[in-house]
Amino acid sequence: VHVSAEVSPFHKSGGLGDVLAGLPGPLARAGVDVRIVTGLMGDTTKLDSIGGRSALTPWPHPVEIGLGGQPIRVQVHEARTHGGEVITYFIEAPHLSRGGLYGHDDDVYRFAILSKAAVAVASILTRGQGLGPVVAIHAHDWHAALAVYYARAQAPALRDAKTLFTIHNLAYQGLAPASESPYLDVRWDDFHGAFEYAGALNLMKGALVIADRITTVSPTYAREIQTAEYGNGLDGLLRALSGKLRGVANGIDVRRWNPATDPAIAADYSAVDPEGKALCTADLRWELGLAAPKTPAFSPLLGAVTRLTSQKGIDWLCDAADGFIRDGGQLVVLGEGDAQLEHRLHWLAMAHPGRVAFRRAFDEGLAHRIYAGADLFAMPSRFEPCGLTQLYAMRYGALPVARATGGLVDTIAPLINQYDVGGANGFLYEGHDGAAFSGALRWATHVFRDPGALAAMRGNAMRAQHSWDDRARAYVTLYRELGIHI
Ligand code: ADP
Ligand code: GLC
Repeated sequence: VHVSAEVSPFHKSGGLGDVLAGLPGPLARAGVDVRIVTGLMGDTTKLDSIGGRSALTPWPHPVEIGLGGQPIRVQVHEARTHGGEVITYFIEAPHLSRGGLYGHDDDVYRFAILSKAAVAVASILTRGQGLGPVVAIHAHDWHAALAVYYARAQAPALRDAKTLFTIHNLAYQGLAPASESPYLDVRWDDFHGAFEYAGALNLMKGALVIADRITTVSPTYAREIQTAEYGNGLDGLLRALSGKLRGVANGIDVRRWNPATDPAIAADYSAVDPEGKALCTADLRWELGLAAPKTPAFSPLLGAVTRLTSQKGIDWLCDAADGFIRDGGQLVVLGEGDAQLEHRLHWLAMAHPGRVAFRRAFDEGLAHRIYAGADLFAMPSRFEPCGLTQLYAMRYGALPVARATGGLVDTIAPLINQYDVGGANGFLYEGHDGAAFSGALRWATHVFRDPGALAAMRGNAMRAQHSWDDRARAYVTLYRELGIHI
């Protein structure tokens, strides 16, 4: 039973939703009976892909859960999802389902409800007829952290179930004042034994301490989070727990993200027949009001699709943008978030009409058209647990220009020598500022203007193997290590 706040296409704010969309199907094909518990978040949850709300089957009776001494009545809605391969239980509950995924003052309490409900569902499935016991609770990110605790400490039916916790982003740990512990049913001895961090309640820390296995979304990030630079204050703990920590890189859903069949883009193309990509680039320029260059082979179009947070290094992208534009490039950024970054991008677009486009939105269709239309893809991330956008970019033949950190190191084969491309499919650089990113962009622009090198790298990128099928096997191995029979 996987527990997650996000499951794309139902609700998504970033890569977490994509992982819960892509991993379960291949896991099911590998012999795992995968169930998912997630929230029904008011009108934030989009159910069109499964035929709307009528595709949900409500359980005949509501489930009563208690939280902090308060009875809470939860309605479970069951549906076949993931092309019919998986069953998802959507939890409708007060507070949790009021609409909007995140951003409420009581998010910690809302996701405690989701976690409690998930453990209740798993207990009911275990006790029910025919299915057999739930053998593992697999919780994702801080929102589901309490599911690990409730399963271990408060669910007799799950006594034999293993618990796994996956860190998608250590920067968000789910913090609350210690005084909230009783409202979340965290006992004081467990607060002190597992959850306490600098006197406060830290939900992710509790899950890390309690879970049978910790995983994170790339091998390099698994190492990095054990250092002070990337550990967000938990590096010491993660070093101590390194025996149960594993890194498995994310994959992508190669059927959904396929330029040969993608209905959102202007022309179809593939590694063997890449001609349509130029049409997608022209179409994207037209859509965004970017000037058509006299010699397109001279003018790389650099794309970014991203949450606007300091994690993604978009300030470094802004620092580097003027030089890149002067060098003949064009830039498109799709993203929303931090107001200061939005302002900077807005002014950059104003200062370079026809050369820079900024769309402040969350727009899946435009995201696809940017991957398809871009020549280069910007990822100057300060840290990147895995990153999926570089994988989408590569699949659509846009070469990532990325800082050498986290999953970017594990998923990009960097160019070393332009005259001997080999298997290279992107650019990796070191450094901590806009100047370092500028240097990488200058090199990428230079290589872009070399048709032989460009074609070879583009082919490598589009053929790179990052399908979830391979990555799912690594999770199966992990489950087996815990003694689960698959
Ligand atoms: P993170 O989870 O840190 O945001 P990832 O690279 O793992 O980073 O995943 C980001 C996902 O969110 C990708 O599917 C990307 O296409 C999508 N995304 C991010 N911002 C936007 C946006 N403004 N519009 C559409 N999709 C977006
Ligand atoms: C997080 C990370 C991102 C990762 C995603 C899915 O949001 O920032 O790097 O790809 O989770 O695991």
